Formats: sequence, C-alpha cells, structure tokens
Amino acid sequence: MKRIVILISGRGSNMEAIVRACAAEGWPAQIAAVISNKPDAAGLNFAAAHGIATAVVDHKAFRQPGMDAQQAREAFDAELQRVIDGFAPDLVVLAGFMRILTPAFTAHYAERMLNIHPSLLPAFTGLHTHARALEMGCKFVGATVHFVTAELDHGAIVAQAVAPVLPGDDEDTLSARVLKLEHRMYPQAVRWFVEGQLRLVDGRVEQLSGASQSFS
Ligand code: GAR
Repeated sequence: MKRIVILISGRGSNMEAIVRACAAEGWPAQIAAVISNKPDAAGLNFAAAHGIATAVVDHKAFRQPGMDAQQAREAFDAELQRVIDGFAPDLVVLAGFMRILTPAFTAHYAERMLNIHPSLLPAFTGLHTHARALEMGCKFVGATVHFVTAELDHGAIVAQAVAPVLPGDDEDTLSARVLKLEHRMYPQAVRWFVEGQLRLVDGRVEQLSGASQSFS
C-alpha cells in the first residue's frame, strides 16, 4: 500500500475528489494524512470526518523577531517536512496548497510530489491564472498536474485539462468549469503514480500504460 499525504490551504475540493476516488476505486494506496498551513482550512473537516489523520503547521507561527522572510520560510518548511515525514509518505500531493516552497523542501520530495495548477502550463504560472487568461483573450484555459521542482509551477507535466472560454465568462465561471475537470484529472494522475505507471525520463513524464493524459 502506497501512503499519500495531501497538503491543502483551504476548501480542499481536489483533496476530497482524491479521497473519494481512492476509496471507491480501491487504489493500492491510503490517504495517510491531510495537512494544512491554515488552521481554519475547510478541507480539514472533511478529512477528519472520513477518519483521516489531520495536522496543521501554521506558517504564521514561524515569523520570529529578528528573522527575515526567507529564514521564516525555511523554518516553516523544515517543520512541515518533519510533520509530513512522520506519516512516511510515498507521495505528497499539493491540492490548493498556497505556499512557495524552498529548494531544500522540493529536493527532499523530488519525483514524489505532485501539484495541480489552474492553467495550461507553461502559460500563467503564479496567481490569478483565469483572470489573466481572460485579459489575454485566450480561447481555452485549463489545469495542469505536474511534478514539483524548486521553480514555481514548473516540473514535468503529468496531465492537462482543457476547457473553452465562452462568451460572457468571468473568472468565477471559468474557474468553476476548470475545477470540474481538475476533480477528474487529479485523482487519475495520483492513481497513475501509486500504480507505478509514471516514469520520469529526461525531465519528462512517460506513462507506461499509454493512457490519455489530456482531459476536456
Ligand atoms: C484549485 O483550482 C487548484 O488548481 C488551485 O487552487 C484551487 C484549490 O481548490 N491551485 C493553485 O492555484 C496552486 N497554485 P481546492 O482547495 O478546492 O482543491
């Protein structure tokens, strides 16, 4: 059984989709813990109600007098890593985890940490992806599941989901349309990982089964 630790910062709907798919589809995996950097993250309640261990590592507690922002970030990541490793994960899943991670942290989980980002990477790294896509007049938007590296929203692409931009769309309608696809794509990508179907070759993902890696 592969052990999965999921990190969230808020609503946790992707985490929920992964928890449900893992149980319903009988993956060779278990969700070992759900961890948040925010004590009030709504997703923690869902996890606890489903008998999953939860933990909070509050990033705000790491800004001590005399520390600069980078030192606080490093202290937070070190504690987060200690808590995660207490659950001995094979895979760490970032599901709406809104923190920039230090190189030491990403190196520790190299090739065993996935993220979902609400854009068609490499376009629109960072925040406000759908608003920026609308501003640019994009005709399609989407989301990407990728392995996490030290560079924000980079790393080998595992799967992508594409949705059209329709007349009258705003940021909310677009993010709702893409989120529905995220809920199908992310569980599938995590399942591929735990079933050993993903292989990194020259910095790119090769999928052993050859199943489609695009969703729309
Ligand atoms: C999702 O849309 C996810 O793609 C995005 O946050 C949302 C989390 O929703 N992630 C990022 O923006 C990461 N840079 P959820 O908490 O309901 O899963």
